[in-house]
Amino acid sequence: MGVQRTLSIAKPDAVSKNVIGEIYSRFEKAGLSIVAAKMLRLSREQAEGFYAEHKGRPFFPALIDFMTSGPVTVQVLEGEGAVLKNRDLMGATNPKEAAAGTIRADFAESIDANAVHGSDSEESAAREIAFFFATSELCDRV
Ligand code: TYD
Ligand code: MG
Repeated sequence: MGVQRTLSIAKPDAVSKNVIGEIYSRFEKAGLSIVAAKMLRLSREQAEGFYAEHKGRPFFPALIDFMTSGPVTVQVLEGEGAVLKNRDLMGATNPKEAAAGTIRADFAESIDANAVHGSDSEESAAREIAFFFATSELCDRV
């Protein structure tokens, strides 16, 4: 699999609960390094562009309302098998179905306020990293 990069977002619920540090700590303990990071409040245009693949689905308007409801942190994680490793740390989309000890099981309330985003493939990761970061903002850790 090799070293990969993946895009992670701590969503507005995680930021407002003050658990960003706990979430970053889980990444680091799992061997993922943060190679880029910023905090911002997404515009509706940004949120709709980022989640374009879900446009037209019934939950889309609520998802956009939620993602623009407060600041988020956006970070690029790097490490061995980073895409799947991050998805494993996150747990299932619906926190009620997320395995014990995962970020969503521990910090998320509901499927629509589920604490974190993570790219679902290397292709998505490339698109999502480029959505938020210029190449010059990605830091080499080696
Ligand atoms: P999705 O990409 O399917 O999940 P994941 O975040 O695990 O990759 O969906 C994107 C987000 O849309 C999800 O994190 C929360 C929201 N969502 C709902 O609110 N209801 C739903 O039924 C689904 C599938 C997603
Ligand atoms: Mg997804």
